[in-house]
Amino acid sequence: MKNVTLNNGVEMPILGFGVFQIPEEETQAAVEAALETGYRHLDAAASYGNEEAVGAAIKASGIKREDLFITTKLWIQHAPTGSVYDDSKRSFQHSLDRLGLDYFDLYLIHQPLGDYYSEWRAMQDLNKEGLARAIGVSNFHPDRLVDLIDHNEIVPAVNQIETHPFHQRAGDQELMRERGVRIESWGPFAEGKNNLFTDPVLSAIADAQDKSVAQVVLRWLIQRDVVVIPKSVRPERMAQNLDVFGFTLTDEQMTQIAALDTGASLFFDHRDPAMVSWLGARRYN
Ligand SMILES: NC(=O)c1ccc[n+]([C@@H]2O[C@H](COP(=O)([O-])OP(=O)(O)OC[C@H]3O[C@@H](n4cnc5c(N)ncnc54)[C@H](OP(=O)(O)O)[C@@H]3O)[C@@H](O)[C@H]2O)c1
Repeated sequence: MKNVTLNNGVEMPILGFGVFQIPEEETQAAVEAALETGYRHLDAAASYGNEEAVGAAIKASGIKREDLFITTKLWIQHAPTGSVYDDSKRSFQHSLDRLGLDYFDLYLIHQPLGDYYSEWRAMQDLNKEGLARAIGVSNFHPDRLVDLIDHNEIVPAVNQIETHPFHQRAGDQELMRERGVRIESWGPFAEGKNNLFTDPVLSAIADAQDKSVAQVVLRWLIQRDVVVIPKSVRPERMAQNLDVFGFTLTDEQMTQIAALDTGASLFFDHRDPAMVSWLGARRYN
């Protein structure tokens, strides 16, 4: 497995396993299968409602903690105690307890909404206390990311954003590179939207490489130095998605995929007021 080095020296596997939308009752089996297949990097979140099941799979696997890279995410805090800083630390502890762990490798602010400056100050302290080896953000557009960086002490190690062939984020990636922030893709397959798995350009490249479209997409992201966390509940696809280090896309194939970019989200726009209100009304601690 190839690692990337984050801005504080922490090593992160470039490929991991995402658990969004895996029903809680199926999550333990799926994560056990993923660990059995060879994944060592897991991407969870308080809002996915399945942290306990992920924790149960980690425990059942018997894999040493230091051989795993575990990410989870802090949901928007609403400060029932009057302090977003305190509630962020409390929510962090809830996630640790649900997962049965005593530190995270990476802890992310899930959404650029609410009082995320107070959340970030709590995360900086969690990082200094050694409870989160690296801290970062998710779904931050460049303007919000730069503002957070310019008004705080620790530069986010990662920004996990929607990144796939139809929304490639090359400009965002360039800015993040200048600022020392690693891009991590969520939704590498766009969850199959836009007929990704039967796209003619991707299918032709897959045929030429004797690989699947999924493998071509993951390989394309990895060759762009993007961290990937594909999700599948099927062991044969888990294995396929992990097997992307034994081939290389040509410059011409990379250019063909670059031409598929639409520059727009296929999911939701964090600048849409209705979406901001909808996300802000969710409660997960
Ligand atoms: N930070 C955020 O706001 C955010 C948002 C969304 C996602 N995420 C993270 O990113 C991870 C990945 O994104 P995602 O789960 O939304 O979507 P995704 O990985 O782009 O797509 C998952 C879909 O692709 C299918 N699939 C997986 N491997 C395949 C293969 N080899 N061939 C054909 N189909 C395949 C899966 O079906 P089966 O399961 O049936 O195989 C599932 O329907 C999430 O699990 C989560 O950890 C983060």
